[in-house]
This record gives sequence, C-alpha cells and structure tokens, in this order.
Amino acid sequence: MEFEKVSLPRYRGSKLNKVKKIDMFPKLEDPYKMTSSVGGTFSIIGFFIIAWLLFSEISYYLNSKFVFTFEPDVELQEKLKINIDLTVAMPCGLVGTDVLDSTNQNTFKFGQLEEEDTWFELSENQQIHFENKKHFNSYLREEYHNIKDLLWKSSFSTHFGDLPSRDHIPDRPYDACRIYGSLILNKVAGNFHITAGKSISLPRGHIHISAFISDQEYNFTHRINKFSFGDPSPGIVHPLEGDELILTSAMTVVNYFIEVVPTTVKTFLNTISTYQYSVNELTRPINHDKGSHGIPGIYFKYDMSALRVKVSQERDHLGMFLARLCSIAGGIYVCSGKMFTYEELIFKTQQVQNS
Ligand SMILES: *[C@@H]1O[C@H](CO)[C@@H](O)[C@H](O)[C@H]1NC(C)=O
Repeated sequence: MEFEKVSLPRYRGSKLNKVKKIDMFPKLEDPYKMTSSVGGTFSIIGFFIIAWLLFSEISYYLNSKFVFTFEPDVELQEKLKINIDLTVAMPCGLVGTDVLDSTNQNTFKFGQLEEEDTWFELSENQQIHFENKKHFNSYLREEYHNIKDLLWKSSFSTHFGDLPSRDHIPDRPYDACRIYGSLILNKVAGNFHITAGKSISLPRGHIHISAFISDQEYNFTHRINKFSFGDPSPGIVHPLEGDELILTSAMTVVNYFIEVVPTTVKTFLNTISTYQYSVNELTRPINHDKGSHGIPGIYFKYDMSALRVKVSQERDHLGMFLARLCSIAGGIYVCSGKMFTYEELIFKTQQVQNS
C-alpha cells in the first residue's frame, strides 16, 4: 500500500487558548444583560457630560498660551530699525531731522527720511482715522496689563495703517511738514531729533542752520502717526502712536525718553525678532531767565534695554492631551456605571420591600 503524502496545515488552537485564558475583561452572557430605562438615561447623561468635557478640553488645548521670559540680550550684530511717520506744524523748509548716537557716526549713514509739505489740520476723513487710533491706543496703554494676554492671543496687530489721503485740499499755503520713513540705526543709545533748520554735518558733530526765522515762529506742535522699532509683529503696542501735542509756546523742548526692549516673538509658524518700547514724556518751556536752557525741538532719546523679552507660544504635549482625553472619557464612563448600579440596587431593594 502506498502512502500519499499530504501535508495538512496543523491546527494551532492550543496556543490561542492560552491567550484566551489571560483575558481579564469580564464577559457577560447575553441572557444576563438587561437594559432598562434608568440605565439608558444614565448613559445619555454620561454621554453628554463626556462630550462637554471633551469639548472644553480640546478647546483648552487648541488655545495656546503665551509664556514670557527674560534673558540678557546677546544679539550684538543686530541693527535697530526705526519707523517714523509724524507731522510737525512747521513747513519742511524750516525743520531738520537728525540722529546722533553714542558711536558719533555720520548721520547720513543711517538713511534718509522723506519730507513732505502738508497742512497740520487734518481733513475730515483723516481726523476720524486719527481720533480712532488715538482712543484705541490710549485705551490699550491704560489697560495694557489686563488685556496683555488677549492681545497676544488675538494676534492683535495695528489695525490702523497709514493715514488715508486727504479728501479735501485746502487752498492756503502749507503750514506743516510730514516726516516719514525708516532709518537703520546702531543698537546703542541715541537721540533722534527734530529742530529748526537743516542740519549740516561737521567733522566734530553737526549744527542746525536756522538763521532764517525768528524764535517766535517756532512751533513744534506735532502729531505722531507711526513710531515703532523693528519689523511689525502682532501683539505689540506702540505707545507713541496716536499722540498729539499742541504747544502754546514757541520756545519749548519736548523730550521723549524711550527705552527700547528687544523682543523675540516665537509662534508656531515663525520667529520674529523685533522691539517694544516704553516712553516717558517731558515738555519744558525754555526760559533763560529762570535757568531753563536748551534748543527748542522734539527729542526722541532712546536707549537699549539689556534684557530681551522672549514671548513664546506654547501648547501642552500631545501625549498629555490624549491621556487627559482618555481619562475624562474613561472616568466618566466608570463613574456613571457605578452610580447606575447603586441606583439599580436601591430600586431593587425598594421593590423587594414593597412586595
Ligand atoms: C502751533 O500750531 C498749532 C496747530 O496749528 C496751534 O494750535 C498752536 O496754537 C500753534 N502754537 C504756537 C505757539 O503758535
């Protein structure tokens, strides 16, 4: 007799059985499972609680927070860009702008600001724009500490761009000068100023030639539409923007003491290195009899902070987030199950007592 060689796939049931033995999850036979309206109600309530908590947990996760830290500023090679747009109540021919910093560098290295003759009085559409900006900015300045987080979260950026152009051209001679543009400065303390007369650079400093008008014609009344450092970044408030100072005396020195704070803004998308500043204003009339000397003008005296502010957008770890989601869902599920059994027990006991 010949044997036919057949290779049958061997049944490996025995191994699977071993795995089955270590199953720790309780199994109920179908006949023992009971559905009831109380259980159903509990399931629905449990489900809603789970949904609500999950929803709030997810929205908490997505709503990233901002963390502020300080560290010494070590970016020495950086340049300080200053963005200016302001109007002085004197024709351009009579005023000059200049930057002097502690390096004593020739001021023309920093770039040139544009000058444009204009009228100090704003047209109606410009007035509305400027008033809005003024109110908004003064509100931000006052409430700054309370709404700081909100500012960053809403990625607030200045909604008010440049001043709109005039909708009505007055028919009188120009009485003001708009000075605007950007300069690239050294990252050291310095002084940007606007005084009477064009500046002339000399080997040992500079002078302003202002022989053409009398002192009494000076008027350094001004309006600041833009005054910021560095590249634009959301969340930063520029306290000088929307500032308007009407001077009643021709001989006045206006000092703005500005502390520039290097700021790194790190969001999920990119990193911006920019600057914030705080400012103090000091307006002083010149009276040589009373010992108050000086040259009338507007002086922006800036200094660099030695500390850098780092604002980083942070979010919890994804693993933590998932763990919290699971613990919420699981926790409520188990708790509602326990409560239901307890309820069921009372219900059953009552039934027994009644019968
Ligand atoms: C300077 O100009 C402003 C605006 O035109 C005016 O309100 C102010 O009285 C002037 N000040 C002086 C000292 O002339």
